[in-house]
Amino acid sequence: MLKLEDVYAALKEVIDLRNVRNVLLQKREDGVKVKFQLSAPADQMEELKKKAEDALKQLPDVKEIEIEEKPTTPISVNMRRHPDIKHIIAVTSGKGGVGKSTVAVNLAVALAAKNYKVGLLDGDIYGPSVPKMLGLEKSQLYAKDGKIIPIERFGIKVLSIGFLIEEDTPVIWRGPLVHKTYEQFYFDVHWGELDFLIVDFPPGTGDPQISASQLMKLRGGIAVTTPQDVAISDVKKAINMFLKMNIPVIGVVENMSYFRCPKCGHVTRIFGEGGGKKLEEEMGVKLLAQLPIEPEIVKAGDIGMPVIMAMPESESAKVYLELAETVAQECERIAKETPPSLDNLRI
Ligand SMILES: Nc1ncnc2c1ncn2[C@@H]1O[C@H](COP(=O)(O)OP(=O)(O)OP(=O)(O)O)[C@@H](O)[C@H]1O
Ligand SMILES: [Mg+2]
Repeated sequence: MLKLEDVYAALKEVIDLRNVRNVLLQKREDGVKVKFQLSAPADQMEELKKKAEDALKQLPDVKEIEIEEKPTTPISVNMRRHPDIKHIIAVTSGKGGVGKSTVAVNLAVALAAKNYKVGLLDGDIYGPSVPKMLGLEKSQLYAKDGKIIPIERFGIKVLSIGFLIEEDTPVIWRGPLVHKTYEQFYFDVHWGELDFLIVDFPPGTGDPQISASQLMKLRGGIAVTTPQDVAISDVKKAINMFLKMNIPVIGVVENMSYFRCPKCGHVTRIFGEGGGKKLEEEMGVKLLAQLPIEPEIVKAGDIGMPVIMAMPESESAKVYLELAETVAQECERIAKETPPSLDNLRI
């Protein structure tokens, strides 16, 4: 029976495999249907499509070929992989203020507590909050051999645009500047060897997300939401953005899911119930964790201590450590599913 490797091998002869995504083999009664996405500049699409079809028709069992066209913009050829970083994880949300940065910071620290080598890139160019959450507001950046040295804190390497701009200074971020900044913060940095680089994004689905996914080979994305319906419908946009860009969805983190009374232990679902579960059913994305409302988390954030350091015995800390484990496993699983020949490549 026809195998995926056969399809890749045939395509490799005629087109650049970087242009090929999501190859699927579907059984038919009389043979196999091959389906995949072809990304290429619009003016080359027809020619490449024809080459791919001709090559696939030579394979035994191939009875039908469906090619979905994905015209690319020229910028995507910049895609490179950072050689020393194993998994890059994007943390996003559709809506602001749902706890993205809190989740990104605590996930990074939790992974480091599990002995992984971790970097945290504060990609929120519009409102960098990582320096404050880690007590690094007044930090000065240094460079060596023309590359930035990230700042080490709680066992993680941290870089934020907040280290470079004065607090409360408005910066006008146009697309190309966003792109350049991400490029520099990704490539021109002594990240060293990392198991995970967590990238905290601004809310929404704009330039920063597009630039980062063009520059970095993201292992996957995590969408943060709160249980309310509106946040849930917003998070769908974030998930759809990942899907559209061919970024695997690691899953959803539901933040501020419930409040546990510190006196009697009674659980109240202040913002409603079941949002994350509903998403899981509707969109087939994994609900990775449900985090409680932790009044202390705000104080911890304000004094620059992530909750898992400030209150290691708290329920939040425990959930974060479990989340770290789940995320690590999911990343390994996704990495295994990526054909090795394509691991370095993404358009
Ligand atoms: N589980 C929680 N319990 C209580 N407060 C929380 C919790 N998670 C986050 N917060 C608080 O909510 C506020 C917003 O969190 P955070 O800055 O992480 O959100 P964000 O999604 O990154 O926001 P932005 O969209 O502005 O980047 C912070 O004051 C944070 O301390
Ligand atoms: Mg934030």
